[in-house]
Amino acid sequence: MYAAIMGYGTIGSGVAEILEGNREKVAKGAGQEIALKYVLDLREFPDSPVADRIIHDFEKIEKDPQVRLVVEAMGGLNPAYPFVKACLNAGKHVATSNKALVAAHGTELLALAREKGVNFFFEASVGGGIPIIRTLYRCLMGEEIQEITGILNGTTNYILTKMEKEGASFSDVLKEAQELGYAEKDPEADIKGYDTCRKIAILTSLVTGKEVDYQDIYTEGVTTVTDMDFRYAKKLGASIKLFGTSRMEGEAVHAWVAPVMVGKNHPLYGVGGAYNGILVKSDKLGTSMYYGSGAGKLPTASAVVADLIEAAQNEGKNVPIGWNGQRLALAGMDTFDCRYFVRVAGDAAGKKGQVEDMLGKGETIVLEGADEFAVVTPQMSEREFKERAIKLEQACRNLNEEGIRQMIRTEL
Ligand code: HSE
Repeated sequence: MYAAIMGYGTIGSGVAEILEGNREKVAKGAGQEIALKYVLDLREFPDSPVADRIIHDFEKIEKDPQVRLVVEAMGGLNPAYPFVKACLNAGKHVATSNKALVAAHGTELLALAREKGVNFFFEASVGGGIPIIRTLYRCLMGEEIQEITGILNGTTNYILTKMEKEGASFSDVLKEAQELGYAEKDPEADIKGYDTCRKIAILTSLVTGKEVDYQDIYTEGVTTVTDMDFRYAKKLGASIKLFGTSRMEGEAVHAWVAPVMVGKNHPLYGVGGAYNGILVKSDKLGTSMYYGSGAGKLPTASAVVADLIEAAQNEGKNVPIGWNGQRLALAGMDTFDCRYFVRVAGDAAGKKGQVEDMLGKGETIVLEGADEFAVVTPQMSEREFKERAIKLEQACRNLNEEGIRQMIRTEL
């Protein structure tokens, strides 16, 4: 069976490497050899093992009936979207690692694959090499999924872990991560939570069977997390992680992205560095967790190759995965319940009582020498928390005092 790769960057070259290096293993899984016929890229790669297969004209792939499997590893939407659409229209299977493509056009591409009796697979788009998509649509297919919570972005997890371990500031760690090549030169999609947002949108669509518009997902990044927050977290025996979460309670689905303070007994507490971890709660299995490399050449390419094998096994047949075009209306953050870590300016001795009266009696944390203190509130809805916080801010303003400096949701 012939395959083509579109985009010979990190992931595309990883796929070529695995197809060659694990040739027999792949053939055994696929039931036949998968031979790489074309590699589409704007550039030449004269010293690479695929130098003789580099092409610059997409139509060669589209019009070659021998090519049954296509890998999209270009990233971005243009020309990835029109190329993938054309491949599916031409009756070819497509495997992609591109979460932006799946989040923006997944509904249409899945429907097209169904219509054409081929497959549009996207295992590598969430969690890199961690098999979370296949786990959800195959292994847990008889389960009612109640919650998915993931550390889905390696860059931000690397940054937060460094801040925690070294007491460093966000900007210092980001700069260092960029210098070492861990973070992109333009890190906005990672640090503002957009990458995690697209990934949790895909997972939520997959388990609800309905389209989730990633733009409907409430999203906070990690840019507001400070070294001071980590000092409190340490005192609480906690850590701070960027979570993408989706909770299904009856008809209501809450999906959001935000930093969360988690205690040592939270299953995702120990997921550090550039790793990803995804926790799934389902009605019969209970809690299960999936951990590994969420990015990187071979881990991500490994997931793409598994998709190619599954597509080869299902030649002439569409594997029923994905979601339909019915848009899922997400529940608003106002009805989401949790406890809140709140830092308030001023002296705990003088102000603690007032803050507890207004935010609810929870736990107070005092750092020696700080001109502020923190409380962890009791559990309440976000609507209630906001109302209470506004009243506290008002009271502080009336006294000409600074009020709330920080709020982080907690699972302690
Ligand atoms: N920028 C992403 C990350 C790459 O840091 O996790 C994988 O999607």
